[in-house]
Amino acid sequence: MKRENWGSKLGVILAVAGSAVGLGNFLRFPVQAVKNGGGAFIIPYFISLFLLGIPLMWIEWTIGRFGGGFGHGTAPGIFQSLWRKNRFIKYFGVIGIFGPIVIFIYYTYIESWLLAYTFFPLRSDFSQISTKDQMLAFLQGYQGVVKNEYFSSILTAYLFFIITFGLNLLIVYFGIKRGIERVCKVAMPALFIFALILVIRVLTLKNETNPDWSPLNGLGFLWNPTFSSLKDANVWLAASGQIFFTLSVGIGVILTYASYLSKDDDVLLSGLTSASTNEFAEVILGGSIVIPAAFVFFGPSGIREIAQQGSFNLSFVTMPLILKSLPLGKIFEILWFFLLFLAGLTSSISLAQPAIAFLEDEFNLSKKKSVFIFGIVCFILSNLSVLFLSKGVVDELDFWGGTFALVVFATIETILFSWIFGMEKAWEEMHSGSDIKLPKIYKFIIKYITPLFLICILLFWTIQYAIPTFLLKNVILENLPFILMTRIILVIIFIALCILVKISWRKKGEKFEN
Ligand code: PFF
Repeated sequence: MKRENWGSKLGVILAVAGSAVGLGNFLRFPVQAVKNGGGAFIIPYFISLFLLGIPLMWIEWTIGRFGGGFGHGTAPGIFQSLWRKNRFIKYFGVIGIFGPIVIFIYYTYIESWLLAYTFFPLRSDFSQISTKDQMLAFLQGYQGVVKNEYFSSILTAYLFFIITFGLNLLIVYFGIKRGIERVCKVAMPALFIFALILVIRVLTLKNETNPDWSPLNGLGFLWNPTFSSLKDANVWLAASGQIFFTLSVGIGVILTYASYLSKDDDVLLSGLTSASTNEFAEVILGGSIVIPAAFVFFGPSGIREIAQQGSFNLSFVTMPLILKSLPLGKIFEILWFFLLFLAGLTSSISLAQPAIAFLEDEFNLSKKKSVFIFGIVCFILSNLSVLFLSKGVVDELDFWGGTFALVVFATIETILFSWIFGMEKAWEEMHSGSDIKLPKIYKFIIKYITPLFLICILLFWTIQYAIPTFLLKNVILENLPFILMTRIILVIIFIALCILVKISWRKKGEKFEN
């Protein structure tokens, strides 16, 4: 079966940028920065960008295009193509399908809230809300955590979830060029325009009673450095974690997108362009919306509290309250939620693609069948997130899919590329068809610094977070059965994927392996 192709260079760059630009840019980044030393956070952040993020971006573009040449669009086949002699390496590649599935089953649920909230400003009871408590009650009612005057059941949330989920499937069903590329070509420019409008609106806010609470001082709050925070290893971990998450690297999705390139397409400049687009959307746009806005309204002490409460409160409670108090507030509220919805949508379709590509490439299934199987399985699994949100299930999925899978996968792919495949060949492969030539220093960085940095992160992170989480150290008793159930399901998914890999390679005959 002939594999699909991207329609244009701009299309693939926008699709990768679409995967990268997501909720992480507008919500996670500003919260992380405020919590981890303000302007000082940007130092480990940029170091991680240049030593981890961009190298991983190039690695994934390169190995994706390489594997695509052998008909493999996902990590099991790609890893096997890089290390033909080792029969086990493909099982490590399973992480690159597992991680995206796990993120997909909660990311689409959160995305569906954004779609719902795009319409809520039109509801009269929502328009009348004027306090934080009411806004929180509205959110919890919607999520089905409590029954109240706003919502009597989870039905509305479920309905929006089905619509969002269906929309994701529809886009991937239309394929790389006619689905993903087409949507990103419209959604990405739209998203940038919406974000720009919001930035301008926020930066021209005034607080008449407290003139000191200006947007400029709000930016200062985000950017003034507290250098002492650099001594804290957790700040470094947070910065590198943010880089992984925001660039969508280390999880298996970029390689799948890159597998639809042709052999002589450029990867280096395209990879760099998509990473730069993401950084612009994060540091410039994402940094200039929520923090300055919240600062103008709640001042320095309020904002610290808001940041501690995390991204969800910021987007679903604080921001609508701020925006609705402005002239034409409804329009800004709608713009805000629709912006986040588009950002989420272009990311979630990239999470769906690996599993679908796996079924198409390794089992020769049609697009229709692959999307159908993926849809049924993920729909059932998503109910974990929808029904047990308040039991900590989403956090658990985020930990294993969004953190654990990521750190391990990034380490494996880097070592595989620069040491097993070999740096000389790797360098040549990166530059084949390339529009730019990288400075030699990157050969050194990719071979030594990136893997070393990753191993340090892996070790530190294992001790600091993985072991305590594994031992259920911070789980409250009431949630325990749900957390254990989630873990058992995750183990089953992982084993099932390993079995599928085994079956497909056996069918093809291990000796003709490629
Ligand atoms: N990069 C996305 C964001 O910043 O929100 C999140 C994400 C999407 C992570 C896709 C990983 C991924 F594969």
